[in-house]
Amino acid sequence: MKAVILISGRGSNMEALLKADIPVEFAVVISNRPDARGLETARSLGVATAVVDHRGHADRKAFDAALAAEIDRHAPDLIILAGFMRVLTADFVRRYQGRMINIHPALLPAFPGLDTHARVLAAGVRVHGCTVHFVTPEVDVGPIIIQAAIPVLADDDEASLAARVLEQEHRVYVQAVRWFAEGRLTLRADGSVAVAGVARQVTALISPPPDAR
Ligand code: GRF
Repeated sequence: MKAVILISGRGSNMEALLKADIPVEFAVVISNRPDARGLETARSLGVATAVVDHRGHADRKAFDAALAAEIDRHAPDLIILAGFMRVLTADFVRRYQGRMINIHPALLPAFPGLDTHARVLAAGVRVHGCTVHFVTPEVDVGPIIIQAAIPVLADDDEASLAARVLEQEHRVYVQAVRWFAEGRLTLRADGSVAVAGVARQVTALISPPPDAR
């Protein structure tokens, strides 16, 4: 199975994937920003990199065409968005529908969009997390593959929350890509995702925890 990873910045999810023991050949890491820190990380791990700079293109359509050309050179089975901060045109998304996935730092469909950790704190919700989903033309919507939930602690700030969510992002993204590579994900007609061969889990995360009695 061949995959490409798209990044815009730090690339810690990318790094977790590149270092994971999964049956995937990572053909290239593509960034829309030449200064993305993750490019250096990818190179240091022996993975090819490419830059498709959005600033060099007249509009979204032209950028997406250049990006698709770079992706298609590698004929990937899977396109992984990992902190890729560009809104993609519907045509681009449709071209890769069912084989393009994204990670979002919130429990979708709650808190789509940017600044999720600050918005979570402002809303006072007690449980937060992250979501890996198939990409559809609408941003941060799309069939959910896996989520991780964490409690929001009384003394959490944006940074502490982001750090604990990120730790889970790295776990669930690796798991989702492994499932994809193993052919265990099926998109159902109703828009949900079936995962073959997973254990049944019936524990609950209660936050704050109830008193022990
Ligand atoms: C992650 O929180 C991801 O969920 C969001 O952007 C951040 C990227 O971090 N889409 P990194 O570049 O993977 O370190």
